[in-house]
Amino acid sequence: MRIGKVTLTDFRNYASQTVTLKEGLNVFEGENASGKTNFAESLYCCAIGKSPRTQNDKEMIRWGADRASASVEVIKQYRSYEVRLIIDSKGKKRLAIDGVPAYKMSEILGVLNIVYFSPDELKLIKEGPAERRRFMDISLCQQSKPYLFNLQKYNASLAQRNKLLKSGLGINSLKQTLFVWDTQLAKHGAYITRKRYEFAQKLKTYAKNAHLKLSCEKEELGICLESSLDYDDIEAVAEQYRAALSANVEKDIDLSFTSFGCHRDDLKITLNDIDVRKFGSQGQQRSAALSLKFAEIDLFCGEVGELPVLILDDVLSELDAARSRRLLEMSADLQTVITCTHFDEDVPHSSFKVNNGCILED
Ligand SMILES: Nc1ncnc2c1ncn2[C@@H]1O[C@H](COP(=O)(O)OP(=O)(O)OP(=O)(O)O)[C@@H](O)[C@H]1O
Ligand SMILES: [Mg+2]
Repeated sequence: MRIGKVTLTDFRNYASQTVTLKEGLNVFEGENASGKTNFAESLYCCAIGKSPRTQNDKEMIRWGADRASASVEVIKQYRSYEVRLIIDSKGKKRLAIDGVPAYKMSEILGVLNIVYFSPDELKLIKEGPAERRRFMDISLCQQSKPYLFNLQKYNASLAQRNKLLKSGLGINSLKQTLFVWDTQLAKHGAYITRKRYEFAQKLKTYAKNAHLKLSCEKEELGICLESSLDYDDIEAVAEQYRAALSANVEKDIDLSFTSFGCHRDDLKITLNDIDVRKFGSQGQQRSAALSLKFAEIDLFCGEVGELPVLILDDVLSELDAARSRRLLEMSADLQTVITCTHFDEDVPHSSFKVNNGCILED
């Protein structure tokens, strides 16, 4: 799939902007604070339904304006869509697909598939497990509606269970009521765990290949899901899950939260068998994060049958010449949006200049 026309109105520092992306590599070049990340953010919002950098949607309204909108034309194999994001004067966000309001995440995710990389994405390697779960969830939710459904149900049940644990009820009545939520958590948690195992397994193969290319064959990347549940027997997972929740109930009451479950899963990432989070160099961590993103592209292609759009915000400045070159070679097969302060690589590309909230095609 690819993005065609993009229209921004009072979105961040863009008053009124229309730009049409081309196939292949689209390079957005501009000085610091010109609006490159703002542009990338508008694409992310139309794909994922929320901003990659703020929870407060009102921040995306251009200062002095009272509402913002972004519209993206998505061109797929058999038909095209228009995804429109509006943030009204109260800061309330609305999305519509071909003019039809979309109220649920499930209606939005999957229309425009993107793989997004910004310097912030380094968190994927450097920070705690929550970032890696977010990575798995965003990827899996874009590919599969049942995954999103199970995740939403799981999170709602987990919140209810934790609320009960904090309620101060006596242990016997607690145990009886918790049972209801344990059954829900086991059902949806088992599904999520299973999908994450499958995801990690496929991701491992793709990421290993991507990393070999990116590192000029110097490093072998490994991935494994660290989950409290083993995945020997698919059928038994839900039962094991419920048993583990019951076994931990007294500990959970003491802690006032649920200590077991897929909300504690992690992905362990290694380079030449060394934990990259703890011991990797800055450049290795960056490359490993990029390799995971490239693996995500291959996964999408396998699951969805169409290539996603790759968005690379400010990535080249952080890589050495050989790795930058490799990165561009690896992006050659799909529509890619790259933002940077200057671009002097000798590869075929369409060029756009960004200047103070205005984009001009070169
Ligand atoms: N709601 C808003 N209204 C108007 N301007 C805004 C708004 N939010 C952010 N800006 C401004 O937009 C400008 C461009 O921001 P952006 O992050 O897109 O820059 P950039 O081109 O990515 O720069 P860099 O190369 O430093 O990453 C910034 O100066 C910022 O203050
Ligand atoms: Mg930027």
